[in-house]
Amino acid sequence: MAAHPGTARTMAGQPVAEAVFAALAPRIEALRARGHTPGLGTILVGDDSASAGYVRMKQEKATELGFTAPHLHLRADATQADVLAAVAQMNDADDVDAFLLQHPTPPQVDFDAALLAVDPDKDVDGLHPLNMGRLALGMAGPVPCTPAGIEALLAHYDVAIAGREVCILGRGTTLGRPLALLLSQKRPTANAAVTVVHTGVADWPRYTRRAEVVVAAAGVPGILRPEHLTPGVVVVGGGVRYEGRRLLPDVDERCEDVAAAITPRIGGVGPTTIAMLFGNAVEAAERRAGVGAA
Ligand SMILES: NC(=O)c1ccc[n+]([C@@H]2O[C@H](COP(=O)([O-])OP(=O)(O)OC[C@H]3O[C@@H](n4cnc5c(N)ncnc54)[C@H](OP(=O)(O)O)[C@@H]3O)[C@@H](O)[C@H]2O)c1
Repeated sequence: MAAHPGTARTMAGQPVAEAVFAALAPRIEALRARGHTPGLGTILVGDDSASAGYVRMKQEKATELGFTAPHLHLRADATQADVLAAVAQMNDADDVDAFLLQHPTPPQVDFDAALLAVDPDKDVDGLHPLNMGRLALGMAGPVPCTPAGIEALLAHYDVAIAGREVCILGRGTTLGRPLALLLSQKRPTANAAVTVVHTGVADWPRYTRRAEVVVAAAGVPGILRPEHLTPGVVVVGGGVRYEGRRLLPDVDERCEDVAAAITPRIGGVGPTTIAMLFGNAVEAAERRAGVGAA
């Protein structure tokens, strides 16, 4: 596949998200018809504006989809005991099928310890160690939303990855690491030969350059440049950093001149992440309502 400047296909996230929501709508309706209104809980600690914005967006989407959206807002000086009490409240709440503790939390809060206290069956982010273990073992359970969204995005745009080389730049716990587990699973839309590179691989471009699909998951603006890629590659930009309100992606915009297909700088992976979050929430609601095989 040789690419020519300006010819890269854009893989926008919104159509993927819309397809996911369209598939979820009848399942949400079926739950409501049997008297089970799905509930997505949110816990926000402090007043970080980006985190508050993310929580608000999830609440608004929940309401739009006919969910209840119970919310707990803790002060920025909340103690670990306060956060654990909020988690316990969500675990016990009958109207909450799934919930999340918005990351990051203030420095005095041990996020990992709080995550461990979340009921794994209500873990909408799929990040509880039990669910990461299920992912590693190929067992059913909530899958981390951004990796699941990337798999859905590639499938939506008919990028077959089975048997092909996928290189992931970054091994973080929300993106790179679970994505590697997911895309190497034995399934038709996965089954890839996955390589993960990070700061321990000084010559990481050697690996990205030979890959047919590259996923940037580092959170380092502009780290992935055209000289790190082979012409005709498929590029997915997952990593971003915020500087104030400016969103700075990992993928240098000139990569468009080399790639055959690429996610847009804004509106790529983000919309698919939120769609997968609601996929996890609906599955949790179906489990609690005893619907089908969920
Ligand atoms: N779009 C979305 O919806 C969405 C959702 C979730 C996350 N994200 C973004 O995805 C990114 C990754 O998230 P995360 O939580 O997995 O991040 P993380 O835990 O910070 O991991 C970043 C990874 O990138 C690697 N890395 C950093 N600088 C590098 C360099 N110069 N060369 C090579 N590797 C480098 C790190 O290597 P080491 O392990 O060696 O330190 C690490 O493995 C973040 O930017 C986050 O904002 C986006």
